[in-house]
Amino acid sequence: MTATSPRLKHEVKDLALAPLGRQRIEWAGREMPVLRQIRDRFALEKPFAGIRISACCHVTTETAHLAIALKAGGADAVLIASNPLSTQDDVAACLVADYDIPVFAMKGEDNDTYHRHVQIALDHRPNIIIDDGSDVVATLIQQRPHQIADLIGTTEETTTGIVRLRAMFRDGVLTFPAMNVNDADTKHFFDNRYGTGQSTLDGIIRATNILLAGKNIVVVGYGWCGKGTALRAHGLGANVIITEIDPIRAIEAVMDGFRVLPMAEAASIGDLFITVTGNKHVIRAEHFDVMKDGAIVCNSGHFDLEIDLKTLGEKATEIKNVRPFTQEYRLHSGKSIVVLGEGRLINLAAAEGHPSAVMDMSFANQALAAEYLVINKGKLEAGLHSIPTEIDQNIALLKLQAMGIKIDTLTLEQDEYINSWTSGT
Ligand code: ADE
Repeated sequence: MTATSPRLKHEVKDLALAPLGRQRIEWAGREMPVLRQIRDRFALEKPFAGIRISACCHVTTETAHLAIALKAGGADAVLIASNPLSTQDDVAACLVADYDIPVFAMKGEDNDTYHRHVQIALDHRPNIIIDDGSDVVATLIQQRPHQIADLIGTTEETTTGIVRLRAMFRDGVLTFPAMNVNDADTKHFFDNRYGTGQSTLDGIIRATNILLAGKNIVVVGYGWCGKGTALRAHGLGANVIITEIDPIRAIEAVMDGFRVLPMAEAASIGDLFITVTGNKHVIRAEHFDVMKDGAIVCNSGHFDLEIDLKTLGEKATEIKNVRPFTQEYRLHSGKSIVVLGEGRLINLAAAEGHPSAVMDMSFANQALAAEYLVINKGKLEAGLHSIPTEIDQNIALLKLQAMGIKIDTLTLEQDEYINSWTSGT
């Protein structure tokens, strides 16, 4: 941690958008009481004094509150976008203009710009990386291994990022601690399920304005994001079909009351397809070939490779923008397929991502995981670390408190009983 970072400026669309960003950030803050309490404590205790943090997150009103909390804690923080299409430009402007936080993010930035921003995050010579999808960590390992010496550790937000970190560990290249924020109960039970569920349908509705009741909606993948998406689609009156490769999740889907089919069969039935698998080409040529005329496809998984859009493009005679974030591919066969949000996360491309109330807990985990890394600097082994149960439980208690909900506590007798093995039948 001897190196100092060069003075960073910013790269945002338009600083004049700052007042609108401020208004929207303040609105989101009403739903983020847990992170607010953490920010207030950070402001007193300054856990990040002298610490450089590079955060790669979707630049939203909720992320603004995380960045503000880190800065209040004394961090020298820089923020870049974790997706080219998810940035809220007014938020980026406000963070620069009102909070003096260097932000490098513009909605619609091209892939080259995105990767240049990843380099800027690394130019900051971070002691802590807060990642969403693991692009900054993967670039650090591949291109700047000499900077690993600067790093205390990383925190990771997404299922996709955790899958990548596990692969890095298997390959022996994850030589520093990585906090697994995604798998905290107060993260994935709420963010992945209710956050993705609501915001994915919000994105689809904003992009298309179609009625979902009565539609055949194929949810591709039944992890937490798929569960939430299916739950909410069902709630809006859709006929939900699930496709899966995992037999246990497939049984779960059946017992949750959904029809489970292989994609080869679902492809010709679906009116709307939503991919949430984290894998590539789960909708591909043979599926496009049998889809109905006018079928809509979109993705709510982290990367834009779940739908094979390259092949779809090759099958098309014309690609027409029919509404914002809505493109119609007219195929040689004469039928058309509609693609939303260029196959990128539809909930962040066409809507505003997960609602603030769930991001409150996700980002409380991020903030406390970063603090945990600092407190335990030099003591944690290389590899993935779970969020300690006390942190997870405490976030849940603070959230309940803020919601005005009280729960029971064990009586002494119950506590003794549950902790003993002697009293059986
Ligand atoms: N990921 C999903 N929704 C998000 C949001 N609102 N802010 C930041 N990251 C997100």
